[in-house]
Amino acid sequence: MNLMELDYDAKMLSIQPEIIIREAKPFMELMMECKCALMEVETKLNVLNAEFALKYNRNPFESIKSRIKSPMSIVEKLKRKGYPLTVESMERNLFDIAGIRVICSFVDDIYAIAALLVQQDDITLLEAKDYIKSPKENGYRSLHLILEVPVFLAEKKKPMKVEVQFRTIAMDFWASLEHKLKYKKDISDAKEIFEELQECADIISNMDLRMQEIRNRIEEREDTNP
Ligand code: GTP
Ligand code: MG
Repeated sequence: MNLMELDYDAKMLSIQPEIIIREAKPFMELMMECKCALMEVETKLNVLNAEFALKYNRNPFESIKSRIKSPMSIVEKLKRKGYPLTVESMERNLFDIAGIRVICSFVDDIYAIAALLVQQDDITLLEAKDYIKSPKENGYRSLHLILEVPVFLAEKKKPMKVEVQFRTIAMDFWASLEHKLKYKKDISDAKEIFEELQECADIISNMDLRMQEIRNRIEEREDTNP
């Protein structure tokens, strides 16, 4: 991200030039620190994946994606929630500037990896929202963790927040489609669509559990006939 982009976003969001001049440098510093925190947590996850793969002869992750929230979304969220438009306010109020999404094959792998990650002694678990055990009303399922991880910079050690979302492939499929559909405004039969999506989420969840049972049965056979 560069100053030109920031300036462009600022114009789009009608931010005063004084705010840009004052906040640009701390903003870029914060973005850099968030990127470092992402790299750290991503490495931790990749290490667990590699170890797990060796031990159980399969990868628990289908994919892992990191992103830094765009300046547009940061400002939009600060405005929406009524927080001041400063870098200090971003650090205090937004916990998802650095975000990682881990897509797993099976639900039990999600809990196994999440537990191994949060028990590491440089990780602090600030918040956990388990939308797998307690799905949202629309049927959304995922495990969300807000973690704090220290980033070692030249002159300081800084605790940084990272949001990690764990989902199965099926939950991700549902969430991606539901997200796309939400932006289609001409929904005349909204209630019906909402119920249909809820039902699809239940079917998907049931399928996840069945796939896990199939995997267990196959692994039991492997154990008895090595
Ligand atoms: P915000 O962080 O302000 O969005 O509110 P929150 O902290 O209460 O949100 P939550 O932790 O419940 O969800 C944060 C993120 O999870 C969102 O930005 C989405 O990526 C994802 N998410 C949550 N709910 C839904 C949903 O109903 N559908 C989809 N597709 N994604 C969701
Ligand atoms: Mg959030």
